Amino acid sequence: MKVEIHKLFEVLLKAQKANPETSVVHSLAKPPVLGDFLGDLDPNLVLDWSDQSFHGLPSLRQKVVERFDYSPICTSDNVLITAGTAEANFLAISNIVGPGDEMIVDVPGWPQPLVLGKAIGATVKKLERQEDNGWMFDFGQLEEFITEKTKLIFLCNPNNPTGHVLNEADLLHIVNLADKVGAYVLTDEVYRNMEWNCPLTPRMATLYDRGISTGSVSKVLGLQGLRTGWMVTRDKNLLFDSIVLREDTSEIMNIMGEAIADIALREDRFKAAVRKARKSAKENLDLLDDFVKTHDELSWVRPVAGLIGLCKLNIDLGSTEVAETLLKKPYSLMVMPGSAYGYPNHIRVGAGGGSKNDIEKGLDRLDQYFKCRA
Ligand SMILES: Cc1ncc(COP(=O)(O)O)c(C=O)c1O
Repeated sequence: MKVEIHKLFEVLLKAQKANPETSVVHSLAKPPVLGDFLGDLDPNLVLDWSDQSFHGLPSLRQKVVERFDYSPICTSDNVLITAGTAEANFLAISNIVGPGDEMIVDVPGWPQPLVLGKAIGATVKKLERQEDNGWMFDFGQLEEFITEKTKLIFLCNPNNPTGHVLNEADLLHIVNLADKVGAYVLTDEVYRNMEWNCPLTPRMATLYDRGISTGSVSKVLGLQGLRTGWMVTRDKNLLFDSIVLREDTSEIMNIMGEAIADIALREDRFKAAVRKARKSAKENLDLLDDFVKTHDELSWVRPVAGLIGLCKLNIDLGSTEVAETLLKKPYSLMVMPGSAYGYPNHIRVGAGGGSKNDIEKGLDRLDQYFKCRA
């Protein structure tokens, strides 16, 4: 299977080469350091795999169901620990969708299902989110798209990059439509716990027996480098098929990732980390919002959840050109062009990273750029 590079990754590769001094794209909380965990790590931990379960460390799976509110509908038997949300999405898509099948994916959204669906030889239908509707999509379009061939509806909830959240009534409506044709519904919930003015994001795995939730410790806890995430579903055949496929990729989880995530998801630590991440993200989001409000060059639907948002560019330049100019001196600033999501007249900004100064520095450079153009 040959997978096409998606534009988001292309942009990241270019930006890494340019090595900008600052950025306003961060999508995760300020990362902890190893020293934050050393006191709780067992020095005698054997660095083979845990040999306890091919589904991942049982104590970690239990913490996932508790911390992310999958309990009591889902138990630890419904959880597979994976190498991040990315691997969980990969395993689910690869197992559910085959050549000639149809899948429905929200856009703008996470690009992974678009390129994987195409590589598999499936027909990928893009469910278009609408900015003038707060980035919600139209249920009429979804109904039109669903056929007997639909195997999977993949939604990013909370949505990357718009910060829109589908509520429980929306999700139950989608489940009802999917159930009529036996389709699975996967919601990528990696930004859960960063809701600003809506209830906590509902968990798809608790709403539907062919529902799948994916997530990880990457964003809100800032532990992306651990590569530790999960797939939660009540479909145990899908979980089994996933460990079979995983045997040919990463085989088992990395024990250090599991051990540290297991500590990070202890109730007291988790609550404190979420509180800290939310405080800093809220401050940064307020700064971004003030910036947008005081610059006619931009407008946005402030994200309802998550750490990132999509700003409309009210200037006569496309986002690729804007982002490329900003990457160079004197700005040396990274923003994510909306073109990476198929939205050439937008830029994506982020409130993660934890450091207020960084965002201020980044916004200052963006301000200079707009002033130079005026
Ligand atoms: C919506 C979404 N899904 C998945 C991922 C990958 O996350 P992980 O580190 O958990 O694999 C990201 C990372 O940016 C993301 O934004």
